[in-house]
Amino acid sequence: MKVAILGGDGFCGWPAALYLSDQGHDVHIVDNLSRRAIDAELEAESLTPIRSIDERLEAWKEVSGKTIGFHRIDVAHDYAALLEFINTEHPDAVVHFAEQRAAPYSMKSSRTKRYTVDNNINATHNLLAAVVESGQDIHVAHLGTMGVYGYGTAGMEIPEGYLDVKVEVPGSEPVEQSILYPSNPGSVYHMTKVLDQHLFAYYAKNDELRITDLHQGIIWGTHTEQTRRDERLINRFDYDGDYGTVLNRFLVQAGVGYPLTIHGTGGQTRAFIHIRDMVRCIELALNNPPQRGERVKIINQMTETHRVRDLAELVAKFSGAQVAYVPNPRKESAENELHVSNDTFLRLGLEPTTLSEGLLQEVEDVARKYCDRVDRSKIPARSLWTAQQSAGVPENE
Ligand SMILES: NC(=O)c1ccc[n+]([C@@H]2O[C@H](COP(=O)([O-])OP(=O)(O)OC[C@H]3O[C@@H](n4cnc5c(N)ncnc54)[C@H](O)[C@@H]3O)[C@@H](O)[C@H]2O)c1
Repeated sequence: MKVAILGGDGFCGWPAALYLSDQGHDVHIVDNLSRRAIDAELEAESLTPIRSIDERLEAWKEVSGKTIGFHRIDVAHDYAALLEFINTEHPDAVVHFAEQRAAPYSMKSSRTKRYTVDNNINATHNLLAAVVESGQDIHVAHLGTMGVYGYGTAGMEIPEGYLDVKVEVPGSEPVEQSILYPSNPGSVYHMTKVLDQHLFAYYAKNDELRITDLHQGIIWGTHTEQTRRDERLINRFDYDGDYGTVLNRFLVQAGVGYPLTIHGTGGQTRAFIHIRDMVRCIELALNNPPQRGERVKIINQMTETHRVRDLAELVAKFSGAQVAYVPNPRKESAENELHVSNDTFLRLGLEPTTLSEGLLQEVEDVARKYCDRVDRSKIPARSLWTAQQSAGVPENE
């Protein structure tokens, strides 16, 4: 299969590109390298010494004998180049990772809010419009987030994207419908993923595009079988307050002797998936596309849920790290339950890699190996969700 990976230089896109190339697919990366520019803007580098895209691709060729194409295109703003790429390369599938993905970064300032909306919505819409204009039957697989559902269960398991509802109509039969699960985004970033869902629904209905939307949990881990084959293939590992994700951050904090920072009570429950399962899920999704005319296929891409303070306690127990409770910069419930259906990937054959001390240790070892690259001043989360928080006024006053 010929697969275009939009955002293929990023944390998820790079290991996904290598994995698919290793499986024999013809892979082309499209990326504008904006994530590397944000590293420079935040003066916060990846914990791991990631190489330039050219060196990465050269190393992969040397190690595997396989070539991955690279196309430097801003998908959100260079529509003509994107369309030309599709018309020239004729991909069978496009995997769309090319969005600004940090909730804290999206909440930093009006500039980063506007950048996130502009970048993410235009990237998604340009892709859909270009697929239609090309006239090709391309399967679009997008990386969405569990965060579109909000973090609560309404006393039920969260289904895979759709909710069957029955509305009582006075004087006639009840109306039954399947609707998108009500969204409840917790940041401007998550809101862009909610808006993406509507773009997908429209293009699947109007143009019969074949679209899969993967509602992904928080990734943990850093290596895949491919990225560990050569130091030059190493994956990005974010630990800073904007881009670092919770479990990986705890493991870095443990690795460098920094207290594990729990926001609020740590009662937030989140969905997780190991990076090796993420790449496998992408392959499963590509091998099982929806039919033309079918509604958007929404799949929950997560394997387990955990409460944040339980994760911190687990990491503290095996590493001996201290735990520190700090004010929560987010506007969210202090505690929540989360039950999520992930039947589709299990049915398709995913064998989940769940949390184990061995795998946690592996990530902490990476952190220890590169601990001299850690800038401790970048660890605390500094983005605040509301003006009241910035003014130091507690949320509920
Ligand atoms: N990392 C996670 O835990 C996680 C969890 C759930 C969902 N996701 C989703 O997966 C996707 C990838 O996340 P990631 O962690 O790899 O992020 P990342 O920031 O590491 O990678 C995104 C890549 O897309 C590129 N990009 C961004 N805007 C672009 C544009 N306009 N044109 C071309 N390239 C562009 C960036 O340069 C970067 O290489 C995102 O859409 C994110 O919402 C990630």
